[in-house]
This record gives sequence, structure tokens and C-alpha cells, in this order.
Amino acid sequence: MTNLWDKLKTQADAVRDRRIADMFTGGRAARFSTRLGGMLFDYSKTNIDAQTLDSLLELATEAGVETRRDAMFAGEKINQTEGRAVLHTALRRSAGAVFVDGQDVMPEVWHTLERMQGFADAVRSGAYRGAGGAFTDVVNIGIGGSDLGPVMASRALASYSDGPRLHFVANVDGADISQVMRGLDLSRTLIIVASKTFTTIETMTNAATARAMMAKVVPDPAAQFVAVSCAPEAAARHGIPAERVFGFADWVGGRYSMWGPVGLSLMLGIGPARFRQMLAGAEEMDQHFTSAPLAQNMPVLLALVGIWHHQICGYPTRAVLPYDQQLERLPAYLQQLEMESNGKRVAMNGSLLERPSGPVVWGEPGTNGQHAFYQLIHQGTTPVPCEFLLAAEGNELGRSRHHLLLVANCLAQSKALMLGRTLEKARAMMAEAGFAGEELERQARHRVFPGNRPSTTLIYPRLDPAMLGRIVALYEHRVFVEGVILGLNSFDQWGVELGKELARSLEPLLTGAPDAIMDGSTRSLVDFVQSHYGDDLDQFGKG
Ligand code: F6P
Repeated sequence: MTNLWDKLKTQADAVRDRRIADMFTGGRAARFSTRLGGMLFDYSKTNIDAQTLDSLLELATEAGVETRRDAMFAGEKINQTEGRAVLHTALRRSAGAVFVDGQDVMPEVWHTLERMQGFADAVRSGAYRGAGGAFTDVVNIGIGGSDLGPVMASRALASYSDGPRLHFVANVDGADISQVMRGLDLSRTLIIVASKTFTTIETMTNAATARAMMAKVVPDPAAQFVAVSCAPEAAARHGIPAERVFGFADWVGGRYSMWGPVGLSLMLGIGPARFRQMLAGAEEMDQHFTSAPLAQNMPVLLALVGIWHHQICGYPTRAVLPYDQQLERLPAYLQQLEMESNGKRVAMNGSLLERPSGPVVWGEPGTNGQHAFYQLIHQGTTPVPCEFLLAAEGNELGRSRHHLLLVANCLAQSKALMLGRTLEKARAMMAEAGFAGEELERQARHRVFPGNRPSTTLIYPRLDPAMLGRIVALYEHRVFVEGVILGLNSFDQWGVELGKELARSLEPLLTGAPDAIMDGSTRSLVDFVQSHYGDDLDQFGKG
């Protein structure tokens, strides 16, 4: 294993100055791409050659990707630091059995899906209604994995939505809930409280505020609340009756949970049939991931490109750039999926990682990003591998000049990143513009693009529910494969605990006595808040 990392580093050093553009001989585009379910994943605009790919595939094999993958799908407790199985894939499985602790979990999964479907049909038909009539609006209150998946998917599939309008509240900042609830007819609004643990302070605080707002408008506010949780008994303590509590097992990680009850808001918006199409698309990706040889396996190849760029070549971040406005929240969704999963410093066995963990992931839809940060991507000193996503046809004004321009821009960017512009070309441009001598030279240098900047493109016919399912499952498995190769546990998130603990301990300190153990910086920030509010702080701190 160590030898392979060294071998890959040596290979990277040897090809560092090679031009990607010069590698396009002998059918490279076909060789360094793979297809599935109408999608084409093209990684030919990277500096990966046949020798590198072989070494990367060897790395995946040696790391035991296939064995770990099979263990995950079989329900083994691969999340060792939490002692749990990892079975979000069961939520989209349409047949067969999966055993956890000797029990087949599939009947319960399908039963819950049926219940969700029955509930969604009742809401969408108006059979189950609010005090003021059929529900016109649904507000999902949740944060992290209980928010980002449904938000991302509901925006992605907005063109397929024919149910109530969907809204999302996540932040404990009161601006979030105030602005979302403002203007809604609460007598016709359904609130979903989505929290795996049902203890998350942001969600519980927002749920209590929503309840108080609702109580001012309707006689029985609890009647317009639904809970989604792994802890149904905690939901019951909030007065939500069992028939409106949708549970799931602890083997579904928060950031992997949009396929089940956490996706209820989405199901209300697009309807159960389209929700099932999304599950079917994801299941198709699961079947591909579990059966395709590593060399043609799309999630494995996407992961290997990621490993090559971050851990081998040392590029610190990667940008996700959907040329698909409907995927505007995909970068935020992937930030949690990738960074909460693989942002770890300790290997599965407790030793410190020997190489960098997962990279920083960021991005924005094109073409907006072009007019913001692409300057750095093209001419900054640190290369940023770019991952483009592109629908051949859009859902809105799909066969119009809008879409042709969108496609042209996406293709132009990956081409420009690869080709760049030489000093000679820049000089010629400046000469044509009338510059000469030293000024020509100076101006030309600003117009040089180094090029040779790697990118991948995932292109698909159209973003429909099944395609969204394939894309999200693709990224889930990519994260898994990278985690296995790095030897870490992608399914815990201990790194978020310290901040939560300190927030709990600082809340009373804001209203109480100075704490001797507080550092000087925190002390002076607390002083600022205390002196801003004076005695009032004590009042609302208790409220
Ligand atoms: O703080 C991180 C986290 O635990 C995420 O992993 C999770 O998605 C989020 O909080 C919300 O948790 P819950 O669904 O339990 O409210």
C-alpha cells in the first residue's frame, strides 16, 4: 500500500509539466470516460494516463474497496466508532433482504415508504388538511442532513413539483424562521420537524417557535405537525401522534438520509411516483457500484480522480460547478456529504492519518461563478480541479438559446482550463491591439493563462428524478471509496461535537457570571454582548 502511494507520487512528479492537451491521441476521450444510465463521466481532461490509472486501480484494490463495499451493502457494522451498520442503500432497495443483527430490515423500510406515500397522497389530495383548508405550504424544520438533502433535491426537481410549496428552516438565527413563516397562511401550512436525534438545539428551538406561531392562528397546532426521526418517543413527547411520526433506523447517517422519511417534504412536493423514480435511479447506481469492474465503475473512477488530485498532486480544494441552475444547492449538499464524511485526522485503527484527509469542496452553478471566482480558477497560483455537471437539455426553456449558451459556456470553460493561452498568443493579441515595446510585454503577461488545469465533466440528458437519484448516489459512493482508500471511517462526525458542547456551556455564561477559565478573547466578546444588552440579556436568555 505504502509503495503504491510512493509510486503514484513519483508518477505525478514525472508528468507534472506534461500538457494534458497533448495527451489526446489514440481515443483518449473514449478510454478515459465511462457511461451509465444515459450519463457520461469524462475524466480525459486530467493528467491521468494508463499507467497512473492502473496504479490508482491497484490502490483501490489493495485498500479493499470491494470487500468494504460488499460489507456495507450486507449490513455489517462498518461504522465502527458508532457500532452501526451503514445502510442508506436499503432505503432505495426494491427487492431482496438485508440483515442487521439477524433481522431483515427491508419489510420495515418498505412499510415506512408505504406510510409516507399514504400520507403524501392524503396531503396532496386535501384529504388531510389544516384548520383553514388543504395545505398550500410545507415547512421542513431541520439542519445539516435533515435539511440539505431535501433542499437540494426539491430545488433540483422544482420543475416536477405539483404539490404544496416547500420551504426550509435550518438556522437557529431567528431571521430564518421569521422570514420563511412571514406571508404564509399558517392555517394551511404543514410543519415537518426533521431530526434524526430529535435533540438538535437549532431544530428544537425552531420547532418550538413554529409551534408558538401556529398556536396564535389555529386551535390545535399539533394537528399540523409531522415528525421525522430515529427517536419516535422523543417526537411523541412533543405531542406529535404516532401516525404522523415517520421513523428510520440509526444505520442511516444524517447526510445520507434524503432517501427515506427525511425526504418527506420532497415527496409532498413531487408526489410519491416521482420520489420512487428518484429511488430507482439511485438503486441503478447502487447496482452498478456493486457489480461493475473497478476500471469501469463510475463512483470508483470519480473517487480515484479525487485521490489523484488531492492526496497525490496536492491540490487543496475541488470545485463542483453544475451548469444546471436546478443543482444550485448541490455544492452545499456535497460540502456536508464529503467534508463531514472524510474530513478526519485519524484512521479506522486510531492512528493518525499518514496523508491528507478529504479536500475542501466548494462551488456555485455556472454561468454565475464565471463572473465571480473563475478568475482565480484560470489565473490563480493554485490549481483547482473542477468538476463540471451538465444537462444536455434543460427542464425550463430547455430547447432554447438559453440552454445552448449554457452548454457552450460549460464546454468552453473546461477547454480553456486545459488549453490556456501562451505568452506568444498574448503578445500577438497585444500587438494587434496597437501595443509595442515594454508596454506590449507587460500587458501580454497579464493575459497569459497557464492552462493545463484539470477538470472532469458529468453530462446527462436531462435532470429528471431518476437522474438526480443516480447523481446523488454516485457522489455518496465516491465519498465511500475515497474514505476506504484513506483508511478512515466516513460515517461518524465526532468533529462537530466540540462546538456543540461549547455552545451549550456558553449560553448560560452569556447571561451569568464571568468564567475564570474563559480565554481572554472569548471573555472580551462575551463582555461586548453583555454590555450591548445590559439587563435585557437576562430576560430573553431565559425565554
Ligand atoms: O452536527 C452535525 C449533525 O449531527 C449532522 O451530522 C446531522 O446531519 C445534523 O447534525 C442534524 O442532526 P439531526 O438530524 O439529529 O437533527
